[in-house]
Amino acid sequence: MVRKPTPEDRFSFGLWTVGWTGTDPFGVNTRPELDPWEYADKLAELGAWGITFHDNDVFPFDADDATRADRIAKLKDAADKAGLVIEMVTTNTFTHPIFKDGGLTSNDRRVRRFGLRKVLRNVDLAAELGASTFVMWGGREGAEYDSSKDLYAAHERYKEGLDTVAGYIKQKGYDLRIGLEPKPNEPRGDIFLPTVGHALALIAELEHGDIVGLNPEVGHEQMANLNYTHALAMGLFAGKLFHIDLNGQRGLKYDQDLAFGHGDLMSAFFTVDLLVNGFPASPEAPRYTGPIHFDYKPSRTEGMQGVWDSAAANMASYIMLADKARAFRQDPAVLALMKEASIYELAEPTLEPGESVDDFLAKNEPVDADALGAREYRFVQLQQLALEHLIG
Ligand code: GCO
Ligand code: MN
Ligand code: MN
Repeated sequence: MVRKPTPEDRFSFGLWTVGWTGTDPFGVNTRPELDPWEYADKLAELGAWGITFHDNDVFPFDADDATRADRIAKLKDAADKAGLVIEMVTTNTFTHPIFKDGGLTSNDRRVRRFGLRKVLRNVDLAAELGASTFVMWGGREGAEYDSSKDLYAAHERYKEGLDTVAGYIKQKGYDLRIGLEPKPNEPRGDIFLPTVGHALALIAELEHGDIVGLNPEVGHEQMANLNYTHALAMGLFAGKLFHIDLNGQRGLKYDQDLAFGHGDLMSAFFTVDLLVNGFPASPEAPRYTGPIHFDYKPSRTEGMQGVWDSAAANMASYIMLADKARAFRQDPAVLALMKEASIYELAEPTLEPGESVDDFLAKNEPVDADALGAREYRFVQLQQLALEHLIG
């Protein structure tokens, strides 16, 4: 039996995850739609600590002010009563046809001005509800055809939009940070900011980039054939890992949004290893301290029982992997192999303290290239020990 999650685990869920009714490009919904507060209650019962949502997960796109306020109040009340934290809020700039060519990067300036206002209004809501992260997933920022865009201007407008939002957060004195969520494609043929690397490059160009970081998602990296754990490492290295979206993906195909652990299991093991144990040879390196946020979709085959089974599955997978990752890093056989593999040595600077390039070049340090070329690293055996901990 896997232990029940507690608030200390800091597990959180998007309301749109359990709330997905199964509508896909080929079929209608297979499940009823509940009110957002009903999902919140049930998530709390399962042991979740927090919830997150898009503005339009709670109130309709065209809601009048009274409806908007009423529905937000109902959700806030349910969250408070259930002891749930609203840790992140994000904006839907993808469902309504007005956003078919993007929100911040649409060719039509009127659409961009509308999109920016929607995002800014939602920043106010995020702050009001006490969220600490404001995710921006630009799913419709992109193109199908390279003939359709001035790609330089598109990046200029993305930058303008992000700086306007970040500048507004600062001007208002909100305690909020923006998490950009990369994705290579879907729904656009090519989405701007397809990878963590692209997002970091844009952040570096921003005026208010200090409060803009990343919200990487497992499946989105894997859809680009990239390694999620490496993406988290890059985010930590850059001081930009503000939030995470955990889920499962099996290879290069549509965005599956499977439950965490139901995709590439070995990769999930090392993701959790990084999250719970940190970098093995760099104890001083930054650690991820944010919520453990799941962004998955209960498969369309499931009814409401399956929705709650799958929500619980995400948390149970994480708990099991965390236990196994801790045991892995404490195993004396693993520690010995890590030493043999020179893993700790990678944390030693290549140059001596204070050694200049000239000093370095002047030194005569004969090396037996053949011997070094023939040394053993034993990476395979180390990986096998990981597998033994995982499934042995
Ligand atoms: C996806 C994305 C979205 C975003 C969410 C936050 O599956 O393509 O994960 O679910 O995370 O919309 O804005
Ligand atoms: Mn996804
Ligand atoms: Mn996501």
